[in-house]
Amino acid sequence: MADTDTGSFKIEEEMNSRRRFLIAATTVAGGIASAAVATPFLLSMMPSERAKAAGAPVEVDISKLEPGILLMVEWRGKVVWILKRTSEMLATLKVLEPELADPDSEREQQPDYAKNETRSIVPEILVVEGLCTHLGCSPVYRSEIAPADLGSDWIGGFFCPCHGSKFDYAGRVYKSVPAPTNLFVPPHVYLSDTRLLIGSESKETA
Ligand code: FES
Repeated sequence: MADTDTGSFKIEEEMNSRRRFLIAATTVAGGIASAAVATPFLLSMMPSERAKAAGAPVEVDISKLEPGILLMVEWRGKVVWILKRTSEMLATLKVLEPELADPDSEREQQPDYAKNETRSIVPEILVVEGLCTHLGCSPVYRSEIAPADLGSDWIGGFFCPCHGSKFDYAGRVYKSVPAPTNLFVPPHVYLSDTRLLIGSESKETA
């Protein structure tokens, strides 16, 4: 994975530039409590050592996830993002379609439940791998409107600082950027309205 540290540094910069406060509680499958970190915009959660060793699915409690907050979960050594999108974020998806390379998620890497307007099972909840499909950097969550570095057309999404790829709030890649495909949607399933299992499409494995 190239330049992941660079991406992480950029995320840190983004975090430091924000002052929104949040608290959310998360747990990991297997009953071992994980640390939920109060940070602006971003939460991270580490799976238990047992789950990591087994490459096991990771269970996430999203009951306290606030709109606009990005939760980061580790699954099989990869970062998975869970974003609870606001109505304003969802409204940008249709607007941006002409700018996107694969707006209907027709390419083969995407599960059937990502082939809809929001690329998700539950419209408000985005679940994608936080790895750029170009060379694997970590894109940065950029929710500002028209920031100086991204231009007046920017209405929010994810920006990869390594080579400039852009993705919308559904993880769909813009046209004419280095990244060839939309962000990957990992296998996942809802165990209930507020409990999500990352890494499996079967409730039986929970
Ligand atoms: S790794 Fe993201 S644009 Fe190259």
